[in-house]
Amino acid sequence: MSLLSFAHVAKTYDKNHEALKDISFSVEKGESVGIVGESGSGKSSIAKIIVGLESFHKGEVLYKGIPLPIVKREELGQFRKETQFIFQDTTSTLNPKLQIWKSITEPLSNYPEVFPSFLNEKAMSLEVTAKSLLDIVGLDETFVHRYPHELSGGQKQRVSIARALSVEPSLLICDEPTASLDMMIQVQILQLLKTLKEKMQMTILFISHDLRAVSFLCENIIVLKQGMIVDSFQIADLYHNHRHPYTKALMEAASTPEK
Ligand SMILES: Nc1ncnc2c1ncn2[C@@H]1O[C@H](COP(=O)(O)OP(=O)(O)O)[C@@H](O)[C@H]1O
Ligand SMILES: [Mg+2]
Repeated sequence: MSLLSFAHVAKTYDKNHEALKDISFSVEKGESVGIVGESGSGKSSIAKIIVGLESFHKGEVLYKGIPLPIVKREELGQFRKETQFIFQDTTSTLNPKLQIWKSITEPLSNYPEVFPSFLNEKAMSLEVTAKSLLDIVGLDETFVHRYPHELSGGQKQRVSIARALSVEPSLLICDEPTASLDMMIQVQILQLLKTLKEKMQMTILFISHDLRAVSFLCENIIVLKQGMIVDSFQIADLYHNHRHPYTKALMEAASTPEK
């Protein structure tokens, strides 16, 4: 059974425009799947359907065989714990009024039964746990008492990653996590995600308009254009001749230096 699967999913926001058309793909445990496409192609709609922020009117979405949206309270609680999200905009995850350690440990404090295996011993307090989590994402412990406005964009994204990792999610969904960062910081964050993915054998659904970012991190790639999947392949086949012309165009765009 796949961890997550979409089968023939369609979504319209208004009657005349289908934002997603007949979307089918699956994410297996331990796999990293990238969804790439230009702005407006429907990437965030897919993420929002998984989170439950948007509905869909055709097809089926399954998480561990359970249809979304999940209705049973217990299953929904489990699902929310197991699927964590990282978005481009960290303001939705980092409360400006909370010190960093509180934001980082918020998911953990919701699920006191979770004991992350990457913490060597049960920490004395959530604050100590926050320090360990900061260390994992390359931030020193002085960050625990800071507020989000005292952090750079890249540091805030590291904190969001620490927060998402804290409950050892079965599935990490990232929607344009590096899009608002400088090129050098983007590379650092992608490297961090890659290292963590390998260390923790995490399953990632990574969404980006940037084929370079997606192909750096993901083994399997799905190309979305105007709400349709036009190409999907394993990373080793990226340079195959039979790639869809749109994939080739994305590759060309990615290899052109920014002006
Ligand atoms: N809340 C909304 N209401 C109406 N149209 C929307 C809404 N959200 C997205 N859309 C439209 O759906 C399409 C896909 O959007 P989105 O999933 O955000 O794409 P992406 O993340 O790839 O940029 C776009 O045409 C967009 O204008
Ligand atoms: Mg988007």
